Amino acid sequence: MYYAQNKKPLPLYDIHPTSIKLINRGHPWITLDSFSEKFHPKEKFIVAKNRGKPFALFIHDPTHKKIRARLWSKQGNFDKQIKNFKQDLSNRIKAAITKRVKSKVLEDRNHFYLIFGEGDNIPGLFVHFINEQILIQTYTDYWKKHQDYIIQQLTNHINQAFDLDLDFTNFWIQSRDEAKQPAKCLDPNRNYQIIDIKESDINFKVILGKYYDHGIYTDMAAIRKRLAPVFKDKKSVLNLYAYTGAFSLFALQNGADNVVSVDLSEQYLQWLDENIKRNECFDGNNHKSEQNAVNDFLDEAIADKHQYDLIISDPPSSSNDGNTVSNSFQSYSRLLTDMEKILSENGQIIVLLNTHKTTFRKFEEKIKKTIFSKNLPLFVAKKYFLHEDCPTSKNFPEGSYLKGLLLKRKNKNVEEEKEVATTE
Ligand SMILES: C[S@@+](CC[C@H](N)C(=O)[O-])C[C@H]1O[C@@H](n2cnc3c(N)ncnc32)[C@H](O)[C@@H]1O
Repeated sequence: MYYAQNKKPLPLYDIHPTSIKLINRGHPWITLDSFSEKFHPKEKFIVAKNRGKPFALFIHDPTHKKIRARLWSKQGNFDKQIKNFKQDLSNRIKAAITKRVKSKVLEDRNHFYLIFGEGDNIPGLFVHFINEQILIQTYTDYWKKHQDYIIQQLTNHINQAFDLDLDFTNFWIQSRDEAKQPAKCLDPNRNYQIIDIKESDINFKVILGKYYDHGIYTDMAAIRKRLAPVFKDKKSVLNLYAYTGAFSLFALQNGADNVVSVDLSEQYLQWLDENIKRNECFDGNNHKSEQNAVNDFLDEAIADKHQYDLIISDPPSSSNDGNTVSNSFQSYSRLLTDMEKILSENGQIIVLLNTHKTTFRKFEEKIKKTIFSKNLPLFVAKKYFLHEDCPTSKNFPEGSYLKGLLLKRKNKNVEEEKEVATTE
């Protein structure tokens, strides 16, 4: 037994030896297993033991299908930490917000993460700043009981840090779970709201409260910024799985005169058109939307001998193309072979993967194996990870779910072929 200061013993729980090993290495979760299923459902915190001694403190989510406990602390007096939990939470919220204020992220966009869950030591809690609207996304029900406190602390710290005057009516809450419900505004009179945001001087429309996803992937913003040199001087650009067109608009801004966006969804492509109209500098004549399944589009493009200087492929983790449900990781073998066929002489391909189920190493291996086995004249030139407002850590691959590779054509220039893959 571990005695709390009030002399009431706190139960110390055994956890799986693998959990101990992983947590020691920096992984922050206890998943459902024969040990964690024995955690008492009424426990708010789990104090895990190792060799009979208190080892780590976790917040407990007895109803989560997979992740039963998330790391709060590995050091110090857990009893005290449980007592000071709210103050500690407030300090962590402040630290995360201060980090954003100090970073350069605000110079380029007015949508960014204020809190990125485990990356900011507030596990399972993600908070977006979307042009002065605040979207709170929870991945564990644990935070429900602290919702009012979190909103109060966020309001104080955000107003102070950004010199704003926000109140609860600017807040939206969303559980990121299988129910896939849109965010709800704390202002009972507002069902949804259209918000104009800016990234790299491009305007986008975002809608809170209507759909599960609100129209822009903020976690991709730092990658987009790093990709700017790749977009320069690319005249014809193909954006596969275009969604609302963040990459398409980025291509237009960088001087492309022929941008094609492919997506299955008519609704997203209409949204993309609206995004183009929100920017006076784009007249729309340089852009074409294709409502089609990517595989079918590629078949036609190959038959028509189309050529593109830059191809971006950002599939969903699983894609339903009307006939089959394919896994994006598996489908890269065919995709890559087809994309190479319509790549211009000095063309480049950006392949992205958005899933915590595949590590970066596995993804890169898969792409390299495909290049090798299909004898494609391509090589991996650069790697892209989550960045800036989306902090990650080395031994928590689930947190580094977004990954990208820049593929260049091999040509006779030996120097270029030898280019060592660098990390961005
Ligand atoms: C992860 S989102 C792409 C995000 C986008 N690249 C961005 O950065 O904003 C995936 C998109 O793929 C589309 N999609 C899914 N399956 C598809 C398929 N087989 N063919 C074409 N589009 C598909 C979805 O409608 C969705 O818009």
